[in-house]
Amino acid sequence: PDDGLVDTFGRVARDLRVSVTDRCNLRCTYCMPAEGLPWLPKAEMLSDDELIRLIGVFAGLGVRQVRLTGGEPLLRRSLVDLVRRIAELEPRPTIAMTTNGLGLDRLAEPLRAAGLDRVNVSLDTIDPEEFVALTRRDRLADVEAGLRAAHRAGLTPVKVNAVAMRGINDTDVAELLAWCLARGYELRFIEQMPLDAGHHWQASEMVTAGEIHDRLSARFALTPAPGRGSAPAERFFIDGGPATVGIIASVSAPFCAACDRVRLTADGQVRNCLFANAESDLRTPLRAGASDAELAELIRGEMWRKARGHGIGSPDFHQPDRPMSAIGG
Ligand code: GTP
Ligand code: 5AD
Ligand code: SF4
Repeated sequence: PDDGLVDTFGRVARDLRVSVTDRCNLRCTYCMPAEGLPWLPKAEMLSDDELIRLIGVFAGLGVRQVRLTGGEPLLRRSLVDLVRRIAELEPRPTIAMTTNGLGLDRLAEPLRAAGLDRVNVSLDTIDPEEFVALTRRDRLADVEAGLRAAHRAGLTPVKVNAVAMRGINDTDVAELLAWCLARGYELRFIEQMPLDAGHHWQASEMVTAGEIHDRLSARFALTPAPGRGSAPAERFFIDGGPATVGIIASVSAPFCAACDRVRLTADGQVRNCLFANAESDLRTPLRAGASDAELAELIRGEMWRKARGHGIGSPDFHQPDRPMSAIGG
């Protein structure tokens, strides 16, 4: 309700992305190794009460949307209750979730009833064999069931996120788009970013937004859709619309200048950017009895240190130690 969480470049953070767990039940090859990662110990994770307290402080700082992410957020057992408690905050933020879709079949209705507004589901391929190769789990049917349940429950627009990967799904982009169109899902393709646990990312391997656009254009007429605002995706009407497809050019055309994001990790650290190399610890002061005003000051300080952009490609770019799965998408 004030001037909001501003940084030195005049940006205002309105979108809080909360990682509610660093665990995942898929093992996407571009994200984590087959054996998983050393997960956060329970004692280091924020409890529900702690999460709600902090989200309330962010809401008081002008945050208007809360996005639940992971790891895989549906793995947090208390998720429905968490959503209900976020929906009780004043003013009530919009509540969104980024999920891999596993378990959404069962949880879409209860989450909707608790106050969840919409979901983004990650799905990189609809080819069953490719799905297993990519995620190392035979769960495509569960993701599809989760998508249907989300759509039925009114968690709309249901968005599908697909990371484009060379030699894997880059030749099937038009097919994935046709599949999503037929089902009423809004597809977005994402350029792969250097956030994998193994630090294997290479610029030369990345499928660019331009390549995705060209491949889609071979089958669909794409015309730019207006009104992007601070959204990461550049959207295009498909064959005249009204359906759209989005392309998230995080690397080749970063949207950092319009960024309105701030992140809270499952262990209670604020991050001002996906690519930040430092964080501010809120858990320690929270557990030591800090007041809301003291926590708010720490959050303001962290945002004040936000860099102009991610700097991928510049000589002093340094991939963050924390992988995507422990930051949240
Ligand atoms: P809406 O457009 O509001 O539905 O959400 P969103 O696109 O922010 O959400 P989602 O979590 O689905 O993110 C989609 C993709 O955008 C992620 O997979 C990331 O690749 C990318 N992304 C999200 N936040 C950032 C960010 O702060 N910086 C960069 N470079 N990429 C981001
Ligand atoms: N670059 C871009 N997107 C990624 N995701 C996971 N790792 C990366 C990466 N290195 C995507 C997931 C999911 C969202 C949370 O982020 O596929 O859609
Ligand atoms: Fe899990 Fe998402 Fe990483 Fe895949 S990209 S392993 S779904 S956290």
